[in-house]
Amino acid sequence: MSHVDAGLTGYKTLQIEPYNPLIGATVHGVDLANATDETLRTELRRALAEFQVLFFRAQSLTPEKQLEAARIFGNPDKAKAFFPRLEGHTSVEKIESGTGMSYKKVADQWHTDITWSSNPPTGTILFGQTIPASGGDTLWASATRAYDLLSPALQTYVETLQALHSFEPSGWPDAFLARENGEALYAQARAANQPVLHPVVRTHPITGRKILYVNPEFTTKIKGLERKESDALLILLFAQFEKPEVQARLRWEQNTVAIWDNRATQHRAVPDFTGARLLHRVTFGEDNAFPQGA
Ligand code: SIN
Repeated sequence: MSHVDAGLTGYKTLQIEPYNPLIGATVHGVDLANATDETLRTELRRALAEFQVLFFRAQSLTPEKQLEAARIFGNPDKAKAFFPRLEGHTSVEKIESGTGMSYKKVADQWHTDITWSSNPPTGTILFGQTIPASGGDTLWASATRAYDLLSPALQTYVETLQALHSFEPSGWPDAFLARENGEALYAQARAANQPVLHPVVRTHPITGRKILYVNPEFTTKIKGLERKESDALLILLFAQFEKPEVQARLRWEQNTVAIWDNRATQHRAVPDFTGARLLHRVTFGEDNAFPQGA
């Protein structure tokens, strides 16, 4: 059953246009800078759980308003990733390419944000500031659909497993080393962020759906398997996210907002653009993604 069949009923305040049959929706008629109505906020939370990634066009968000919008879904004030912060805003990250330091290569593999932490964010809100004339799209893939499309015998097996996650295989080591004082920054990041174990299959606390929780950017090893066995199984599991039917691809416009459920999805940027690209990112709910550890 697609989410088009499952959802769309019972929304009083949201106009929802499904994006793809298995993931994503564009939400019309909502001004995220003034989303104070409680029914609206409840429906936004429901839509995020149901559609996994929501797109909003033509928004007008100051950094304060972006933080307020994030608060609809969770607390945005906890520790973050390694991106530079917007001046004066410790919780707003700048994902910037094309001028000075370039972050074109740190998000160009499928990943769930910050799974190298034991408390990854519940979700993320990304706001398009400077958008290339063409290219620089972002793709999302549904980790619940990725799980659903495994054969039942493999589902049963992978549910018994745990995997290690680390920022080491990602673009971050090179990004650190390219900075002034890079070796010290890299050593500091390693010391503060030892690899962590997560279950390979998690359960979404709102929808109860099973999530395939491994990603090629941060998952390094399946606990208890030989290296070759682990590599082979991870390649097979990562391939689930390459299936076009589980994906949605966003063509950014200036002032587009994307909000995703960071438990139920992976995403990646497409590094095919030239020139400047700037997105403001706020992650939220770093204390609450999987309240029962599921
Ligand atoms: C991210 O990984 O949060 C950024 C995605 C992008 O740059 O499109």
